Parts: sequence; C-alpha cells; structure tokens
Amino acid sequence: MSNRNIEAAFNYHEQTKHSYQSVRTDPHYLDFPNQPIPFKTYSELEPIQLPRQWENTEITALSAISPLPITINDERIPNLNDLARLLYFSAGVVKQRSYPGGQILFRAASCTGALYQVELYVVCSALPDLPAGVYHFSPKDFALYRLREGNYRTVVAHASGEEPSLMRAPVVVICTGTYWRNAWKYRARTYRHFGWDNGTILANLLAVGFALQLPTRLILGFVDDEVNRLLDLDIDREVALSMVSLGRTARQTAELPTEVYPLGLDALPPSEVEVDYPAMRVMHSATCLVSASEATLWRGQTPDQTPPVPEGPVWKLDPRTETAADSIEEAVRRRGSSRRFENKPISFQEFSTMLYCSAQGIPADFLEPFGVSLNHWYIIVHAVEDLPAGAYVLHRHNWELELLKEGNFRSKSGYLGLGQELPADASANVFFLADLTSILERFGNRGYRAVQLEAGILGGKIYLAAYAHRLGATGLTFYDDDVIEFFSPHAQGKSTIFLLALGHGQKRKLLS
Ligand SMILES: Cc1cc2nc3c(=O)[nH]c(=O)nc-3n(C[C@H](O)[C@H](O)[C@H](O)COP(=O)(O)O)c2cc1C
Repeated sequence: MSNRNIEAAFNYHEQTKHSYQSVRTDPHYLDFPNQPIPFKTYSELEPIQLPRQWENTEITALSAISPLPITINDERIPNLNDLARLLYFSAGVVKQRSYPGGQILFRAASCTGALYQVELYVVCSALPDLPAGVYHFSPKDFALYRLREGNYRTVVAHASGEEPSLMRAPVVVICTGTYWRNAWKYRARTYRHFGWDNGTILANLLAVGFALQLPTRLILGFVDDEVNRLLDLDIDREVALSMVSLGRTARQTAELPTEVYPLGLDALPPSEVEVDYPAMRVMHSATCLVSASEATLWRGQTPDQTPPVPEGPVWKLDPRTETAADSIEEAVRRRGSSRRFENKPISFQEFSTMLYCSAQGIPADFLEPFGVSLNHWYIIVHAVEDLPAGAYVLHRHNWELELLKEGNFRSKSGYLGLGQELPADASANVFFLADLTSILERFGNRGYRAVQLEAGILGGKIYLAAYAHRLGATGLTFYDDDVIEFFSPHAQGKSTIFLLALGHGQKRKLLS
C-alpha cells in the first residue's frame, strides 16, 4: 500500500479509538503466563560491555530539554563513553522494583505498561574505542552486541536520500518497535504506542545529546526496507521506526553502498505464543517509503499549524529555565511515572517552564523550519497558582495561554482520561491534539507516525521538566472523541494524539 493512500491512517486511527462504550464492552484480559520478556536477546553473540562511570554533564536538564540546535563546523566524534551515556539515559535500566509477581526493570524513559517494546541499534564508523559496525543495545546487561562489522553509514545515508546530517554522522541510533511486546496488553493500539514510547526515549536521547554538545537530528524520512534489512529484522515482528544522527565528521560519507547480507541471527522469542493483530502491521506498511527519492521529497515543508488569533482572555507564560539546577542525568535518575497526585497547586512559573520546555523546537526532518510543531497543546488546569481553573490552548509563537472556558473540570478530566484518578488529581492535564488532515495530506500515512512520535517527545520533555522541578508526571490514555468535544468548538476537526498529566506526585505505588 502506498504512503499516499491516506485512508489507511484515518481508518487505523478510527478503529483504535477508545470510547466509554468500547472500553466497557471489551472482553480482553491479560494472559500473564504468556507475558512477553521486555528485552531482545541474541543467543549466539558475545556482549561488549559498556562503561558505566560518568560525571554528570554541566548543562542543566531544563536547558538540555529546550535547546537550539547545535551547529558546528568542526568534527565532533563521540567516544564509547558518550555512546554509553546516551544509551543509558535514554533506554537503560535505571531502577528495579520487586513486587509479589516478580520484578520490573524500569527504564530511563516511560513506556506504556512498562512493556518496553522499543529497541535501540547503533550504526557507526570507527570511533576512538569502538570498531565500525552495526550493534544492538541490550539494556539488560548494558552491553552492545555486534551484528555487522564494518562501516555501514553509507547504507543509512542512502536509505534517507542522503539527508545532510546523516551524510556526516559518525553515529546513528535506530529505534525499532516489536509489535507483540506491547500488543500483548494493548493489541492493535500498539501502533500509536510505538510513537509515544519511542518519543519518550527520543526526548531523553536528544537532551543527553545536547548536554554532551553533540549535533543531533531526528530523521523519519528513510526507505524502510533498506534499514530493516541492515538490522536483519523479521518485519512481521519488529520494524524500524525512527533514527537519530549524532555527532559530525569532517568529511561526508563517500564509500559505495555496502552489500547487506542476511544474518540469520536467532533472537529468543519474547513469549511462548504470539497473537497477531494485523491492523497495526497494515498501518505500518502503509507508512513505508520505498525509494531514496521518495525519502528526499518527504522531508520538510511542515504544514503551518498556527492556531487562530485568541478570542478569549490570555495569560503570558513566565518560564524560568535557570531555577532548577539538576543535570539531565540527575533528572532521569529521579524518574518514575506518578501513580498518584497530591491534590495541591503548582506555581505558575513551574507550569510555565514545563510548557515552555516542551514547546521548544525539535531538530527533525519533518519539522522545518526549526521550531514548528505538528501537535497543539490543549490544557485543563485544575490547580496552578495565579491561573483560573479551566480549559486553555497554548499559543507557542508568543507564549500565551488562551482561556477557552473557566471552571473546575477535575471530574471531567478523570472521565476523559479513561475514568482514572490520575488526571482528576493532577494539577494540570496537557492534551496533544492535531489536525490529521493537513498532516496526512502533506506527509502521507507516514505523517501519522510523525505526529504520534512528536507527541511522545513533547510528553517526554514534560516528564523531564517535571523531574527537574521535583514534580511528577504521567502519560495517560483517553476517550478520543470526548476530548475533542470538550475542547470544541476550538478543537473541531482535530484528533486526540496523547495526554500527559502533571502535578505533585505522591510516593510511588507499584503496578499501573
Ligand atoms: C504513553 C504513556 C501512556 C500511559 N498511560 C497510562 C495510563 O493510562 N494509566 C496509567 O496508570 N499509567 C499510564 N502510563 C504510565 C505507565 O504505566 C508507566 O510509564 C509504566 O508503568 C512504566 O513506569 P515508569 O514510567 O515509572 O517507568 C503511561 C505511560 C506512557 C509513557
């Protein structure tokens, strides 16, 4: 199916909506004995241990989350230590907790249901202390496993239609999603979760990249088959979702494309039985690009998403990125989705700073010029000092919040967030909404991948900004159409993409 046949994305989105009715009549139950292992394990390869001794970087977490892109003309080649840090603070195991049924190894970035279906791979040229190759990152033993030896940068650059940052990147991190590992709980909705859960990882990766002063860029325009083949993926189970270029070489990659042979490596099956939900594979294949020229044309020209001029009262945000001194490493180490919120207010400055940090630009090939966004910030405020409780929309170009309707919407928030207590008790709920029509018209079905991924990154940035303020946050799911109805008429024609609640988190309880 072609990327241009955008009925595919509309259909998938429609089919996977939650409503009060659909959730209550759903017979699905969790088959715990068949729960997938949250790690990909290659049985025949030897681990290359990654170093674990780092000083914290000096740039504060808040600056690292909301930077301008680094433009340097010099060479900037990360070493193994840098790579280890980038991988640890974006997808490493940072905490472990025991509970009656076993143990959860929590990662550096939140993931729906703690199922951790996103894997990271590294494609690099020779680094000071790591030979050129294609590697899989294994968070379980904090090691790399070499899948291929040699310089395969050209393959990635070719797949992207010679995207400029990839032509000079000594390191490329490729993120994949393994369907069953999330579909065990969420079934066909997993394709949305691929975007969210890949996004939270990318929020961390981009922030750590900035803290290490490495030029970074998120690339979504690439020929899927070429990248999947490079990683030797079984595409019925696992697919490449996104990639990030890291660092800069003095010269562009120039070697001819390397021959990519199948590896036939065995990875342990995640469960005894896997259930197939074809809708997510159909959706993915409809987002695929098939030629380098298609990838080149796919980049840039982001459709304008500026909201209409405010008609209601406005409040100017008052962000203070200098107030929280934590490094990005400290913020990540303190992380953990809030399982309960204390019903008390956050300050206007904290709130402003979290929104400001999330709404700064992301260096990405589908967000041009730098600073534009596919998603809109619609917010229900319950308890923010000096701000009336009510529903708002953010105007990012001048950092103003427009009041859409005033009132106490705690119980409405609880309902919209799938009838959970978390959104009712939070100080505020940020709903990411998007105009799918203009996005899909410009980017085809792959625009759906982009908009979900961007929402995950924006949510991930709010998570990080909340930790830096010693506050809490959690991703949440929602009744799609009821959210749009609540924010209408302003939100008419938009779709609900993601929800994030924030506030004073209470001491963590275990399972969600
Ligand atoms: C995109 C996303 C959606 C989530 N949805 C819910 C939810 O609806 N209800 C809930 O209690 N927790 C939700 N969570 C929280 C996860 O359950 C939590 O991230 C997971 O258990 C891992 O814990 P950690 O975030 O502390 O690492 C969500 C998290 C993310 C990232």
